[in-house]
Amino acid sequence: MEKFKIIFFDTKEFFRDVFDRLNKDYNFDIKYCSVRLDEETCSLVNGHDAICVFVNDRVSRKVIECLAENNIKLIALRCAGYNNVDLEAAKEYGIKVVRVPAYSPHAVAEHTIALILALNRKLIKSYFRVREGNFSLEGLVGFDLYGKTAGVIGTGKIGKSVINILKGFGMRILAYDVYPDYEYAEYKRFQYIDLDTLYRESDIITLHTPLSKETYHMINEDAINKMKDGVMLINTSRGGLIDTKALIKGLKTRKIGYAGLDVYEEEEHYFFEDHSTDVIEDDVLARLLTFPNVIITSHQAFLTKEALENIAKTTLDNIKSFINGEKLENEVI
Ligand code: NAI
Repeated sequence: MEKFKIIFFDTKEFFRDVFDRLNKDYNFDIKYCSVRLDEETCSLVNGHDAICVFVNDRVSRKVIECLAENNIKLIALRCAGYNNVDLEAAKEYGIKVVRVPAYSPHAVAEHTIALILALNRKLIKSYFRVREGNFSLEGLVGFDLYGKTAGVIGTGKIGKSVINILKGFGMRILAYDVYPDYEYAEYKRFQYIDLDTLYRESDIITLHTPLSKETYHMINEDAINKMKDGVMLINTSRGGLIDTKALIKGLKTRKIGYAGLDVYEEEEHYFFEDHSTDVIEDDVLARLLTFPNVIITSHQAFLTKEALENIAKTTLDNIKSFINGEKLENEVI
Protein backbone atom coordinates (compact mmCIF):
# COMPACT_ATOMS: atom_id res chain seq x y z
CA MET A 1 0.00 0.00 0.00
CA GLU A 2 1.23 3.48 -0.82
CA LYS A 3 2.38 5.48 2.16
CA PHE A 4 0.36 8.50 3.32
CA LYS A 5 2.27 11.60 2.28
CA ILE A 6 2.54 14.58 4.60
CA ILE A 7 4.38 17.80 3.94
CA PHE A 8 5.57 19.72 7.03
CA PHE A 9 6.02 23.50 6.87
CA ASP A 10 8.19 25.72 9.06
CA THR A 11 10.09 22.76 10.49
CA LYS A 12 13.16 23.19 12.62
CA GLU A 13 15.71 20.57 13.64
CA PHE A 14 14.07 19.98 17.02
CA PHE A 15 10.80 19.06 15.28
CA ARG A 16 12.45 16.82 12.66
CA ASP A 17 14.32 14.87 15.34
CA VAL A 18 11.29 13.99 17.39
CA PHE A 19 8.96 13.33 14.42
CA ASP A 20 11.55 11.09 12.73
CA ARG A 21 12.00 9.09 15.91
CA LEU A 22 8.27 8.58 16.56
CA ASN A 23 7.33 8.11 12.91
CA LYS A 24 9.12 4.75 12.98
CA ASP A 25 5.93 3.40 14.60
CA TYR A 26 3.61 5.01 12.00
CA ASN A 27 5.63 4.80 8.81
CA PHE A 28 4.22 7.89 7.10
CA ASP A 29 6.02 9.48 4.16
CA ILE A 30 7.11 12.83 5.65
CA LYS A 31 8.68 15.69 3.74
CA TYR A 32 10.05 18.57 5.82
CA CYS A 33 10.24 22.15 4.54
CA SER A 34 11.82 24.98 6.43
CA VAL A 35 9.71 27.58 4.60
CA ARG A 36 6.40 28.75 5.99
CA LEU A 37 3.13 27.96 4.29
CA ASP A 38 1.58 30.95 2.55
CA GLU A 39 0.16 31.82 -0.86
CA GLU A 40 3.62 31.73 -2.44
CA THR A 41 4.80 28.41 -1.01
CA CYS A 42 1.48 26.61 -1.28
CA SER A 43 2.34 24.88 -4.57
CA LEU A 44 4.83 22.72 -2.62
CA VAL A 45 1.88 20.69 -1.32
CA ASN A 46 1.41 19.08 -4.73
CA GLY A 47 1.63 15.27 -4.55
CA HIS A 48 0.88 15.07 -0.81
CA ASP A 49 -2.20 13.93 1.10
CA ALA A 50 -1.92 16.17 4.14
CA ILE A 51 -0.08 19.18 5.45
CA CYS A 52 1.37 19.74 8.90
CA VAL A 53 1.71 23.36 10.02
CA PHE A 54 2.76 25.45 13.01
CA VAL A 55 1.78 28.75 14.62
CA ASN A 56 3.12 31.13 11.98
CA ASP A 57 2.04 29.31 8.84
CA ARG A 58 -0.73 31.26 7.14
CA VAL A 59 -3.63 29.00 6.26
CA SER A 60 -5.79 31.71 4.69
CA ARG A 61 -8.74 31.21 2.33
CA LYS A 62 -6.45 31.58 -0.68
CA VAL A 63 -4.08 28.96 0.72
CA ILE A 64 -7.01 26.64 1.42
CA GLU A 65 -8.22 27.05 -2.17
CA CYS A 66 -4.73 26.01 -3.27
CA LEU A 67 -4.79 23.03 -0.87
CA ALA A 68 -8.13 21.94 -2.30
CA GLU A 69 -6.83 22.20 -5.88
CA ASN A 70 -3.98 19.91 -4.84
CA ASN A 71 -6.29 17.37 -3.18
CA ILE A 72 -5.05 17.96 0.34
CA LYS A 73 -7.48 16.30 2.71
CA LEU A 74 -6.13 17.14 6.12
CA ILE A 75 -4.51 20.10 7.88
CA ALA A 76 -2.67 18.85 10.95
CA LEU A 77 -1.67 21.66 13.30
CA ARG A 78 1.21 20.79 15.57
CA CYS A 79 0.06 23.41 18.07
CA ALA A 80 -2.98 24.23 20.18
CA GLY A 81 -4.01 27.63 18.80
CA TYR A 82 -5.74 27.71 15.40
CA ASN A 83 -6.19 31.45 14.85
CA ASN A 84 -3.99 31.18 11.73
CA VAL A 85 -6.44 28.87 9.91
CA ASP A 86 -9.52 30.06 8.01
CA LEU A 87 -11.80 27.38 9.45
CA GLU A 88 -14.80 28.49 7.41
CA ALA A 89 -12.90 28.05 4.16
CA ALA A 90 -11.53 24.67 5.29
CA LYS A 91 -15.07 23.51 6.00
CA GLU A 92 -16.33 24.80 2.67
CA TYR A 93 -13.65 22.80 0.84
CA GLY A 94 -14.16 19.69 2.99
CA ILE A 95 -10.65 19.79 4.44
CA LYS A 96 -10.46 18.52 8.00
CA VAL A 97 -8.41 20.42 10.58
CA VAL A 98 -6.87 18.70 13.61
CA ARG A 99 -4.69 20.12 16.35
CA VAL A 100 -2.80 19.24 19.51
CA PRO A 101 -5.08 20.67 22.20
CA ALA A 102 -2.67 20.09 25.08
CA TYR A 103 0.94 19.08 24.88
CA SER A 104 2.33 20.51 28.03
CA PRO A 105 0.51 23.34 29.73
CA HIS A 106 3.35 23.12 32.28
CA ALA A 107 5.93 24.10 29.65
CA VAL A 108 4.09 27.35 28.88
CA ALA A 109 3.17 28.02 32.51
CA GLU A 110 6.76 27.52 33.68
CA HIS A 111 8.08 29.87 30.98
CA THR A 112 5.52 32.44 32.16
CA ILE A 113 7.03 32.18 35.64
CA ALA A 114 10.56 32.41 34.19
CA LEU A 115 9.60 35.74 32.59
CA ILE A 116 8.05 37.03 35.82
CA LEU A 117 11.12 36.13 37.89
CA ALA A 118 13.65 37.32 35.32
CA LEU A 119 11.89 40.70 35.04
CA ASN A 120 11.34 41.17 38.74
CA ARG A 121 14.84 40.16 39.85
CA LYS A 122 16.50 41.72 36.75
CA LEU A 123 18.34 38.51 36.05
CA ILE A 124 19.39 39.33 32.49
CA LYS A 125 20.97 42.62 33.55
CA SER A 126 22.74 41.04 36.52
CA TYR A 127 23.99 38.09 34.43
CA PHE A 128 25.70 40.40 31.93
CA ARG A 129 27.01 42.71 34.67
CA VAL A 130 28.68 39.92 36.60
CA ARG A 131 30.21 38.43 33.46
CA GLU A 132 31.90 41.77 32.88
CA GLY A 133 33.24 41.90 36.40
CA ASN A 134 30.64 44.43 37.56
CA PHE A 135 29.35 43.17 40.92
CA SER A 136 27.31 46.29 41.74
CA LEU A 137 23.71 45.85 42.97
CA GLU A 138 22.58 49.32 41.87
CA GLY A 139 19.28 49.20 40.01
CA LEU A 140 18.62 45.52 40.77
CA VAL A 141 15.94 45.95 43.46
CA GLY A 142 13.02 43.57 42.92
CA PHE A 143 9.86 42.89 44.93
CA ASP A 144 8.55 39.91 46.89
CA LEU A 145 5.94 37.96 45.00
CA TYR A 146 4.63 36.75 48.36
CA GLY A 147 1.48 38.64 49.27
CA LYS A 148 1.16 40.41 45.90
CA THR A 149 -1.84 40.03 43.57
CA ALA A 150 -1.67 38.24 40.22
CA GLY A 151 -4.46 38.65 37.66
CA VAL A 152 -4.79 35.60 35.44
CA ILE A 153 -6.86 36.14 32.28
CA GLY A 154 -7.95 32.79 30.85
CA THR A 155 -8.08 29.87 33.25
CA GLY A 156 -7.86 26.93 30.88
CA LYS A 157 -5.07 24.38 31.04
CA ILE A 158 -2.19 26.88 31.01
CA GLY A 159 -3.88 29.51 33.17
CA LYS A 160 -4.64 26.88 35.82
CA SER A 161 -1.06 25.67 35.82
CA VAL A 162 0.14 29.27 36.25
CA ILE A 163 -2.29 29.77 39.14
CA ASN A 164 -0.96 26.62 40.79
CA ILE A 165 2.62 27.86 40.67
CA LEU A 166 1.81 31.42 41.71
CA LYS A 167 -0.14 30.06 44.68
CA GLY A 168 3.09 28.38 45.73
CA PHE A 169 4.70 31.81 45.96
CA GLY A 170 1.94 32.90 48.33
CA MET A 171 0.28 35.24 45.86
CA ARG A 172 -3.35 36.32 45.93
CA ILE A 173 -4.96 35.27 42.63
CA LEU A 174 -7.70 37.10 40.78
CA ALA A 175 -8.95 35.42 37.64
CA TYR A 176 -11.12 36.23 34.66
CA ASP A 177 -12.54 33.76 32.14
CA VAL A 178 -15.67 33.76 30.00
CA TYR A 179 -16.27 30.23 31.33
CA PRO A 180 -15.18 30.35 34.97
CA ASP A 181 -14.37 27.06 36.70
CA TYR A 182 -15.79 27.86 40.13
CA GLU A 183 -15.11 24.38 41.48
CA TYR A 184 -11.40 24.73 40.69
CA ALA A 185 -11.43 28.25 42.17
CA GLU A 186 -12.84 26.92 45.42
CA TYR A 187 -10.36 24.04 45.46
CA LYS A 188 -7.35 26.30 44.79
CA ARG A 189 -8.74 29.22 46.79
CA PHE A 190 -8.76 31.93 44.18
CA GLN A 191 -11.41 34.34 43.06
CA TYR A 192 -13.09 35.04 39.71
CA ILE A 193 -13.67 38.72 39.21
CA ASP A 194 -14.65 41.18 36.46
CA LEU A 195 -11.90 42.46 34.18
CA ASP A 196 -11.94 46.04 35.46
CA THR A 197 -11.33 44.92 39.05
CA LEU A 198 -8.61 42.53 37.89
CA TYR A 199 -6.88 45.38 36.04
CA ARG A 200 -7.22 47.71 39.03
CA GLU A 201 -5.96 45.33 41.72
CA SER A 202 -3.27 43.20 40.07
CA ASP A 203 0.46 43.72 40.48
CA ILE A 204 1.10 41.17 37.74
CA ILE A 205 -1.28 40.44 34.85
CA THR A 206 -0.75 37.34 32.76
CA LEU A 207 -2.67 36.42 29.59
CA HIS A 208 -3.79 32.86 28.78
CA THR A 209 -6.80 33.22 26.48
CA PRO A 210 -6.82 32.17 22.84
CA LEU A 211 -6.68 34.87 20.17
CA SER A 212 -10.14 35.46 18.71
CA LYS A 213 -12.26 38.34 17.43
CA GLU A 214 -13.30 38.95 21.05
CA THR A 215 -9.79 38.90 22.52
CA TYR A 216 -7.92 40.75 19.73
CA HIS A 217 -6.26 43.81 21.32
CA MET A 218 -8.08 43.22 24.61
CA ILE A 219 -5.06 44.88 26.22
CA ASN A 220 -5.46 48.31 24.62
CA GLU A 221 -4.98 51.85 25.86
CA ASP A 222 -8.27 51.79 27.74
CA ALA A 223 -7.41 48.55 29.56
CA ILE A 224 -3.87 49.73 30.34
CA ASN A 225 -5.21 52.98 31.84
CA LYS A 226 -7.25 50.91 34.30
CA MET A 227 -4.16 49.02 35.55
CA LYS A 228 -2.06 49.72 38.63
CA ASP A 229 0.91 52.03 38.11
CA GLY A 230 4.01 49.93 37.48
CA VAL A 231 2.06 46.76 36.69
CA MET A 232 3.90 43.76 35.24
CA LEU A 233 2.27 42.47 32.05
CA ILE A 234 3.06 38.97 30.77
CA ASN A 235 1.91 37.49 27.48
CA THR A 236 2.78 33.90 26.59
CA SER A 237 -0.47 33.37 24.67
CA ARG A 238 -0.78 35.19 21.34
CA GLY A 239 0.68 38.53 20.28
CA GLY A 240 -2.64 39.87 18.98
CA LEU A 241 -4.06 40.03 22.51
CA ILE A 242 -2.01 43.20 23.06
CA ASP A 243 -2.15 46.43 21.08
CA THR A 244 1.64 46.82 21.00
CA LYS A 245 1.56 50.56 20.30
CA ALA A 246 -0.57 51.04 23.43
CA LEU A 247 1.89 48.86 25.35
CA ILE A 248 4.79 51.07 24.23
CA LYS A 249 2.88 54.15 25.31
CA GLY A 250 2.20 52.50 28.68
CA LEU A 251 5.90 51.69 29.07
CA LYS A 252 6.90 55.26 28.20
CA THR A 253 4.50 56.76 30.77
CA ARG A 254 5.75 54.16 33.35
CA LYS A 255 2.17 52.88 33.74
CA ILE A 256 3.59 49.53 32.76
CA GLY A 257 6.57 48.74 34.92
CA TYR A 258 7.59 45.49 33.23
CA ALA A 259 6.56 43.52 30.16
CA GLY A 260 7.41 39.87 29.49
CA LEU A 261 6.45 38.77 26.00
CA ASP A 262 6.89 35.37 24.42
CA VAL A 263 4.64 36.42 21.55
CA TYR A 264 4.25 39.54 19.43
CA GLU A 265 1.48 40.44 16.99
CA GLU A 266 3.86 40.74 14.03
CA GLU A 267 6.14 37.92 15.15
CA GLU A 268 5.86 35.92 11.95
CA HIS A 269 8.33 38.27 10.22
CA TYR A 270 11.10 37.65 12.76
CA PHE A 271 10.45 34.91 15.30
CA PHE A 272 12.08 31.49 14.93
CA GLU A 273 14.76 32.83 12.55
CA ASP A 274 18.24 34.32 12.97
CA HIS A 275 18.05 38.01 12.01
CA SER A 276 21.14 39.02 13.96
CA THR A 277 22.87 40.41 10.89
CA ASP A 278 19.77 42.13 9.44
CA VAL A 279 18.35 45.56 10.08
CA ILE A 280 15.07 45.28 11.97
CA GLU A 281 12.57 47.14 9.84
CA ASP A 282 9.70 46.74 12.28
CA ASP A 283 9.92 49.99 14.27
CA VAL A 284 7.45 48.78 16.88
CA LEU A 285 9.49 45.66 17.66
CA ALA A 286 12.70 47.70 17.54
CA ARG A 287 11.28 50.19 20.06
CA LEU A 288 10.14 47.39 22.35
CA LEU A 289 13.66 45.97 22.34
CA THR A 290 15.07 49.24 23.70
CA PHE A 291 13.27 49.13 27.06
CA PRO A 292 15.35 47.86 29.98
CA ASN A 293 12.20 46.52 31.65
CA VAL A 294 10.99 44.39 28.72
CA ILE A 295 11.99 40.81 28.05
CA ILE A 296 11.03 39.26 24.74
CA THR A 297 11.50 35.59 23.96
CA SER A 298 10.87 34.18 20.52
CA HIS A 299 7.70 32.10 21.07
CA GLN A 300 9.65 29.49 22.99
CA ALA A 301 7.30 28.85 25.91
CA PHE A 302 6.26 25.49 24.46
CA LEU A 303 9.83 24.34 23.87
CA THR A 304 10.50 21.50 26.29
CA LYS A 305 11.43 17.89 25.54
CA GLU A 306 8.16 16.70 27.02
CA ALA A 307 6.06 19.11 24.96
CA LEU A 308 7.81 18.21 21.70
CA GLU A 309 7.29 14.52 22.38
CA ASN A 310 3.58 15.08 23.07
CA ILE A 311 3.16 17.31 20.01
CA ALA A 312 4.68 14.67 17.73
CA LYS A 313 2.76 11.77 19.26
CA THR A 314 -0.63 13.54 19.14
CA THR A 315 -0.05 14.86 15.60
CA LEU A 316 0.86 11.41 14.30
CA ASP A 317 -2.11 9.86 16.15
CA ASN A 318 -4.42 12.53 14.68
CA ILE A 319 -3.21 11.66 11.17
CA LYS A 320 -3.55 7.92 11.84
CA SER A 321 -7.15 8.37 13.06
CA PHE A 322 -7.94 10.35 9.91
CA ILE A 323 -6.51 7.63 7.63
CA ASN A 324 -8.44 4.94 9.52
CA GLY A 325 -11.67 6.93 9.20
CA GLU A 326 -12.01 7.05 12.98
CA LYS A 327 -13.69 9.82 14.96
CA LEU A 328 -11.29 12.76 15.08
CA GLU A 329 -10.99 13.57 18.76
CA ASN A 330 -8.86 16.64 18.13
CA GLU A 331 -10.76 18.05 15.17
CA VAL A 332 -11.18 21.83 15.11
CA ILE A 333 -14.66 22.64 13.96
P1 NAI B 1 -7.49 26.38 26.93
O1 NAI B 1 -8.46 26.24 25.81
O2 NAI B 1 -7.30 25.25 27.89
O3 NAI B 1 -7.89 27.68 27.78
C1 NAI B 1 -8.26 28.89 27.24
C2 NAI B 1 -9.17 29.59 28.25
O4 NAI B 1 -9.45 30.89 27.75
C3 NAI B 1 -10.50 28.88 28.44
O5 NAI B 1 -10.76 28.66 29.82
C4 NAI B 1 -11.52 29.82 27.80
O6 NAI B 1 -12.78 29.80 28.45
C5 NAI B 1 -10.82 31.15 28.00
N1 NAI B 1 -11.31 32.19 27.11
C6 NAI B 1 -11.70 32.07 25.80
N2 NAI B 1 -12.11 33.27 25.33
C7 NAI B 1 -11.97 34.14 26.35
C8 NAI B 1 -12.25 35.52 26.48
N3 NAI B 1 -12.78 36.23 25.47
N4 NAI B 1 -12.00 36.11 27.68
C9 NAI B 1 -11.51 35.39 28.72
N5 NAI B 1 -11.24 34.07 28.66
C10 NAI B 1 -11.48 33.46 27.49
O7 NAI B 1 -6.12 26.79 26.27
P2 NAI B 1 -4.66 26.66 26.89
O8 NAI B 1 -4.08 25.34 26.56
O9 NAI B 1 -4.68 27.09 28.31
O10 NAI B 1 -3.86 27.72 25.98
C11 NAI B 1 -4.14 29.10 26.04
C12 NAI B 1 -3.44 29.79 24.89
O11 NAI B 1 -2.03 29.72 25.07
C13 NAI B 1 -3.65 29.14 23.51
O12 NAI B 1 -4.85 29.57 22.91
C14 NAI B 1 -2.44 29.59 22.73
O13 NAI B 1 -2.76 30.77 22.05
C15 NAI B 1 -1.40 29.89 23.81
N6 NAI B 1 -0.25 29.00 23.71
C16 NAI B 1 1.01 29.55 23.63
C17 NAI B 1 2.13 28.75 23.54
C18 NAI B 1 3.53 29.33 23.48
O14 NAI B 1 4.48 28.60 23.15
N7 NAI B 1 3.73 30.60 23.77
C19 NAI B 1 2.01 27.29 23.50
C20 NAI B 1 0.66 26.80 23.67
C21 NAI B 1 -0.43 27.64 23.76
